[in-house]
Amino acid sequence: MAIHPKTPSEIESMRLAGRLAAEVLDFIAPHVKPGVTTGGLDRLCHDFMVGVQGTIPAPLNYAPPGHKPYPKSICTSVNHQVCHGIPGDRVLKDGDIVNVDITVIKDGWHGDTSRMFIVGEGSIQARRLCETAYEAMWKGIQQVRAGARLGDIGHAVQRHAESRGFSIVREFCGHGIGRRFHEEPQILHYGQPRQGLALEPGMTFTVEPMVNAGRRDIRALADGWTIVTADHSLSAQWEHTVLVTEQGFEVLTVSAGSPPPPAFVAAPATPAATVS
Ligand code: MF3
Ligand code: CO
Ligand code: CO
Repeated sequence: MAIHPKTPSEIESMRLAGRLAAEVLDFIAPHVKPGVTTGGLDRLCHDFMVGVQGTIPAPLNYAPPGHKPYPKSICTSVNHQVCHGIPGDRVLKDGDIVNVDITVIKDGWHGDTSRMFIVGEGSIQARRLCETAYEAMWKGIQQVRAGARLGDIGHAVQRHAESRGFSIVREFCGHGIGRRFHEEPQILHYGQPRQGLALEPGMTFTVEPMVNAGRRDIRALADGWTIVTADHSLSAQWEHTVLVTEQGFEVLTVSAGSPPPPAFVAAPATPAATVS
């Protein structure tokens, strides 16, 4: 299926959906504390989305081919859970790391974003993993501009994570997004520079690397959704929805509470000064 770049008015709709998704993360951040259950976080987010924002939680009853309907409104992936953790009775405790992944639908358009939260202080390894995953996402985003290729994104993400001794999950990837939750193209978080599809202005997709402290291998739990690391090592993920522009990129999932980009993003990158 062809990839249709979004029109200016569609992009405006995507900006709104993206900001609203990020604002759910702003809303839930102060609640991610020891003693709360992941199910409690789901309930709070659900009520905020439906009751305050007037958005639809896209995960609820989402049923891609081969999956039973997803039963909750957000994903909460704790410690060695890689992604798609189903909120429930689990009580968060000091030192846990948790990814909260929010996808809203507003006026038919999707915004998809996730952040890591460290409950309490966290171990040095946990903090380093979360920071590296954040940097890796931004290394990928930084590659985005008209004419760049998907392999440029994947390579930049992979190179950063592996340079820190971590591994990249291969089985899950970023994705085109728009009227549908998961559209073409697939955005791999590994790859070779100058390979793959060339980016065009108006494309919208997510960059959402999953970074494991140990080996990259994963397993699926019997609940049909939750993905965990095979070696039970910690895993971290961040996600933004981005727009391809002529000059570069625009992050659509920004809000007042978005963590600032790493310092290397602000630094002017001239080809001559870029270390490769
Ligand atoms: N938000 C996830 C992503 O980034 C997808 C979650 S699908 C669900 O693509 F059904 F588990 F919610
Ligand atoms: Co996504
Ligand atoms: Co997501």
